[in-house]
Amino acid sequence: MLKRIKMVIVGTMATAMLCTNVYGYSNDFSHRSNVSFIEIIGNILGIGQTVETKDADHDFSMYDDIYYYEPENLSRYTKFSSKNPDIAPEDVIWLVNANLDRDFYTKSEKIKDTETMPLLVNKYNYLPSNYVPENLVYIEDDKQATAETAEAFKEMKENAEAEGIEINVVSAYRSIDYQKDLYKSYLKTDSKKVVDTYSARAGYSEHHTGRALDLASDDWDMDNFGDTEAGEWVRKNAWKYGFIVRYTEENKNITGYKSEPWHITYVGDEAAEIMHTKDIKSLEEYVEKYVKHKPLDYNNVNTETIEIENN
Ligand code: DAL
Ligand code: ZN
Repeated sequence: MLKRIKMVIVGTMATAMLCTNVYGYSNDFSHRSNVSFIEIIGNILGIGQTVETKDADHDFSMYDDIYYYEPENLSRYTKFSSKNPDIAPEDVIWLVNANLDRDFYTKSEKIKDTETMPLLVNKYNYLPSNYVPENLVYIEDDKQATAETAEAFKEMKENAEAEGIEINVVSAYRSIDYQKDLYKSYLKTDSKKVVDTYSARAGYSEHHTGRALDLASDDWDMDNFGDTEAGEWVRKNAWKYGFIVRYTEENKNITGYKSEPWHITYVGDEAAEIMHTKDIKSLEEYVEKYVKHKPLDYNNVNTETIEIENN
């Protein structure tokens, strides 16, 4: 059995330059460190306690050398920062770029390139209603996923099995009609506000991409997956196969969903590896910092895959 081990080699000079840049700005706003990032974002989105609003005199044009700064968003940066003075400028910028200064499902945009890797589907970016992934294949009996997702999962499952861990797929590709019915069925027991915290509206579900999988261990209990040995194994190892655990406790206020330890998304080797190495906690942040914009050291981040014997 072969196991893939990957390494990231980062150009030290460029990294040092980037860090100086970011941390230099952070020092100007050191007071923010008393409040955790998630608490702050929770407040932005109306979740959790309220942080006192104070006037901010941030002139965001001074941050135009942060590589993901978008000049057309200047007034939104300023407004958002005034309302949330404890958020560091470098976070304000990517959050606003990702539309998190707006309520969920506000000014959502139809995704134009549905074949891109990774594919960001969230409450601001939805799939065309007639979208069906081109390369669906069967995965685990009667479920379907894209060929790349199925292949990566197969390898992950085999390697988990070699370590005595069982991983099963409970749900994979879901058509827009299926998702619509699912969301509607939840509305019979929960309010829309509550359903929105655990189920995507039709067109807004990653399951529609064929790249998302809901997992369970040998008990076939998805809800329990996070507490199982298999759930722990997936948290630790999924990135090696190009997957991320998409909805976590740490990013719930970015995604708008409660933690789902069972839901993994195929984002490809590069994204999964960079997110792991750089400790990037949401696909939203990754897309802003590594897809829509690229850091100075991007070309010095080389990935190598090494095949070694798995004992
Ligand atoms: N449970 C996830 C958020 C979905 O419905 O796609
Ligand atoms: Zn799911």
